[in-house]
Amino acid sequence: MTYVRAAALSELEEDTPKRVEIDGTPISLVRTEGEVFAINDICSHANVSLSEGEVEDCSIECWLHGSSFDLRTGKPSGLPATRPVPVYPVKIEGDDVLVSVTQES
Ligand code: FES
Repeated sequence: MTYVRAAALSELEEDTPKRVEIDGTPISLVRTEGEVFAINDICSHANVSLSEGEVEDCSIECWLHGSSFDLRTGKPSGLPATRPVPVYPVKIEGDDVLVSVTQES
C-alpha cells in the first residue's frame, strides 16, 4: 500500500473538509473527533463535491440532496444516495497526513 502526502495536519481545521487530489483522485480530507478521514470527494448520487458539505457525527452531508456518508465506511445513511463512496486509509506522521488511494477500504 503506497501512502502519499495529502496535506499538513496543521492546515486541517476541525469539521472543515479540505479537497485535495492524489493521482487524479479527488479526495475530501476531514479532521473530526480526533481523527483524520479521507473520503472520495464525489457524491455517489451525482457529480457533486462532498467537501462543500457539512460534517457532523463522523459523517459528511452532501449539500445538494442531503444524503450523509459515514466517514469511516463511506456508506450513505439515507436516500437519495444508495451506493457508498470510497474511503481511503490515512496515516499521520508528524505534521504530515498521508493517504493511500491504491486500495480502498
Ligand atoms: S448529489 Fe449527493 S445526494 Fe444527490
